[in-house]
Amino acid sequence: MYDPDVSQMFDQVPLANWNGTQMPLSEAKVSVLDRAFLFGDAIYEVLRVYGGKPFLFDDHIARLRRNFEKLQLPADADIIAQRVRETIAASDVTEGTVYIQVTRGVAPRIHRYPATPPTPSELIYVSHFKDPYQELRKVGTRVIILEDLRWKRCDIKSVNLLANCMAAQTAYEAGCPEALLVDEKDRLIEGSRTSLFGVRDGRILTTPLGQNILPGITRKLLIQLAGECNVEISEAMIYRNDLPKLDELFITGTTTEILPVIQVEDQTIGDGTVGPVVSQLITAYAKTIERFRHSGG
Ligand code: PDD
Repeated sequence: MYDPDVSQMFDQVPLANWNGTQMPLSEAKVSVLDRAFLFGDAIYEVLRVYGGKPFLFDDHIARLRRNFEKLQLPADADIIAQRVRETIAASDVTEGTVYIQVTRGVAPRIHRYPATPPTPSELIYVSHFKDPYQELRKVGTRVIILEDLRWKRCDIKSVNLLANCMAAQTAYEAGCPEALLVDEKDRLIEGSRTSLFGVRDGRILTTPLGQNILPGITRKLLIQLAGECNVEISEAMIYRNDLPKLDELFITGTTTEILPVIQVEDQTIGDGTVGPVVSQLITAYAKTIERFRHSGG
């Protein structure tokens, strides 16, 4: 059964930057009146560190900034970006992840945003990370389908992730690394923590951007790589009953990278092996990371 080794991911206490001060993550403390604790009023980001550098950094910081705007959260994405760089540099992490969370801050419990905005609480921490999907990526995985129970603004990367956590738990109990979420129109939207792609007759399909999905940073890179590989790509919905007609299916995300899906519930996808299109993209993705590791940025 798929079971990521969390102890290995947190083998050392991650280095944090909590409201501008560097400290071990275990020493960062937050008030119970923080609006993230009371209301889930917070935005987060997860990014990868390869070769000691933050990958697709500008895209992640741009998404963070857009999310601040969507929630009228008065935090400065440039200052956070600077702290991310400093925290990575102060840590010994070369292959890892960065978690960023910014909350509206501490205020008396009223639902609306406080008239006098509190100071946002800003957390960054840097952890070692080892790809848990190295083996699964070669052979492909099975996933399950679950009803999409999330709210109607999944484009906002908020920490309100209970529906995602429930889906991930059900997937885990079914022996799968991911669940695909289906809406009331039988459209496959995305995974609990991944973007979704299908391949039919040599053309890639992926869920169009909208308020029902997260605009994935890996999804954006994937679209670019498909172009470079001369594979046509359309932003078009994949319906549940399209599954028997698909040649390939795969999911993407910051920590997942690209993971081929060879079976959905009892439906085999294509011939049940990792297909040529996703194989080409996995190679292109690996080359992009290798180039990045050895680049100046
Ligand atoms: N998850 N869709 C959802 C619902 C996600 O939570 C994520 C990311 C993605 C992929 O987005 P990106 O390529 O920008 O990572 C799609 C992160 C990694 C998480 O919650 O840990």
